[in-house]
Amino acid sequence: MSDEKKLEKLAKQIKVCTRCELHRSRTEAVPGEGPAQAEIMFIGEGPGASEDKQGRPFVGASGKFLDQLLEQAGVTRTDVFITNVVKCRPPGNRDPLPDEVETCTSNYLQNQIKMINPSIIVTLVRHSMGLFFKGAKITQIHGQMRKVDDRFVIAMFHPAAALHQLSLKSTIMADFAKLPELLKEARAELGKGKAPKKKRK
Ligand code: URA
Repeated sequence: MSDEKKLEKLAKQIKVCTRCELHRSRTEAVPGEGPAQAEIMFIGEGPGASEDKQGRPFVGASGKFLDQLLEQAGVTRTDVFITNVVKCRPPGNRDPLPDEVETCTSNYLQNQIKMINPSIIVTLVRHSMGLFFKGAKITQIHGQMRKVDDRFVIAMFHPAAALHQLSLKSTIMADFAKLPELLKEARAELGKGKAPKKKRK
């Protein structure tokens, strides 16, 4: 089965998932979106109210700002894969609980990473940063690309943080602006040419 088909099959499973309590209050599960051959994968925290209604990631206020950040960096949204640590909205936008994070990442996020095999993962929130950099502080490591296993990971501030704290806006914009250059570096280090990318079986 192709990676595209595997990813679609996983998305269908996510849509009807009842593995944790979050399924009880959700409207739509949000598997994520983007091509199976995406070279960059963004990982947010979990769907907000707009995402829960539409079943798509980052379509609310922070999504609009993410779109702007991508555009000013010259990155096309439809070329990247965008998803979240948990695929269902935590009620009232509370933090996802450790068992919800564990259940959702071990069943879904880790499989999405394997299927997409991105050159760069950008973590947009503490929970996704913690999957790769235990105990790290975002203020110390944001925007720095680090090798983790077979790929590179960059922790960035969440777009919503800039909406609430204007002083962060220029920092996030500067971190996003580095992405094309960092992607070139990652490709060279990983021995990957431009797309089409060699995929794992
Ligand atoms: N914030 C997130 O972390 N994810 C979304 O999908 C939307 C807002």
